[in-house]
Amino acid sequence: MRIMKILFKNRRILFLSFNKNNYSTAPKSLATLRIGEKEYRTDEYTNITPKILSYLNRNLHLKKDNPLSLVRQRIVNYFYSSFTHGGNPTFSVYDNVSPVVSTKQNFDDLLIPEDHPSRAKSDCYYINSTTLLRAHMTAHQSELLRAGLDNFLMIGDVYRRDEIDSTHFPVFHQIDAVRSQRKEQLFENHPDLDIFEPSFDRTNPHAYQNSISDPAKQSCHTLEATKLMEAQLKNHLIGMVRSLFGEDIQYRWVDAYFPFTHPSWELEIYYENDWMETLGCGIVRNEILANAGPNNTIAYAFGIGLERLAMALYKIPDIRLMWSTDSGFLAQFQNKNANANIVYKPVSIYPQCTNDLSFWLPPTTTIDTFTSNDFYDLVRDVGGDIIEQVKLKDKFIHPKTKKHSLCYSIVYRHLERTLTQAEVNKIHKEIENAATKAFNIVVR
Ligand code: DAH
Repeated sequence: MRIMKILFKNRRILFLSFNKNNYSTAPKSLATLRIGEKEYRTDEYTNITPKILSYLNRNLHLKKDNPLSLVRQRIVNYFYSSFTHGGNPTFSVYDNVSPVVSTKQNFDDLLIPEDHPSRAKSDCYYINSTTLLRAHMTAHQSELLRAGLDNFLMIGDVYRRDEIDSTHFPVFHQIDAVRSQRKEQLFENHPDLDIFEPSFDRTNPHAYQNSISDPAKQSCHTLEATKLMEAQLKNHLIGMVRSLFGEDIQYRWVDAYFPFTHPSWELEIYYENDWMETLGCGIVRNEILANAGPNNTIAYAFGIGLERLAMALYKIPDIRLMWSTDSGFLAQFQNKNANANIVYKPVSIYPQCTNDLSFWLPPTTTIDTFTSNDFYDLVRDVGGDIIEQVKLKDKFIHPKTKKHSLCYSIVYRHLERTLTQAEVNKIHKEIENAATKAFNIVVR
């Protein structure tokens, strides 16, 4: 057992015992837990840890220099450009919704049964028995349908209790989507065809037992509507995978089961000699649509995991790297066009060491005419492979003397060992000397 301190309401510090093996909490007394602006009561379900709380608000999917954000942009661009009406994208995007949801949102609204294993305390991070960190982005499907939306993407961080290794992390990112169509849209050229079977009265959906025992379709839907939606869904998703991995990517559809869709499928792609699951999808269960509002549409939905796609696209060997704040990692994805072909180059596990170099330029050069690339080459020439990055940190003109000054940060890192500060200082000095000679500068 390990004792951890958590700061609770009224500045009282309570001690929660975290079981070392599964981190299930056993609060000594009930208290409230603050997340952001809100207070939540805790109870015997509470199993969220301070470490997990520290991942909230990191918003990796929105950070410009994070690979997850690049994949997000590519997928969103694909859906934006594939579906337009009147020149505007059909899909609206929700990428900044709080991950704190109710069990109703995460499970009940999606027809996930009371005894379904995905509800287990061992699988989710509960704040209390009715509140948890969303385990999938599908948790927002019903509320957005209820708000009147018909085509939307939900993007964000999701939380599932898991081990930490090169491919598993308790926090990951998903894009979930819904695309709904009315009869007139789906059967534009076939007004004689319908979405619903004649035996189904869509104005009174609760009087009907919608069966999923037929593997091909829900009993309320016609086969034509289901098949056409299935064809569109599969085409759109294959188009997406091709836009990411190229036309030649091998893929296969696998029949699947999700409580919230029927029929359901998973799409696998062949990657590095193995089949890799990339997404789940299906035709939304009509009960979900009927409960949320629309009674005249059929919809398909899908949920894509971003980590796997990013790891495959950029050859990132370890899922933990997504969370890296190391500039050696982030710089490889910085200022990149979303479609750029990036292959990740491993950064050393040994620590970085950053030294700045500030200097006055000679009267013949200004902060705007000095060629940074020349400086970068010199630094690399003198420093060799231990130079990981050189970046311009500051430009300055002295108000009185009008002298121009530049400051560069040089990041040193050895690939095989920890550099000592003394070693780095020696090389840094050599760079200063070489730059002084080459550019006629005066080190400040
Ligand atoms: N929510 C599922 C998961 O996390 C993925 C998924 C499957 C999402 C089918 C959907 C869907 O929207 O229709 O594994």
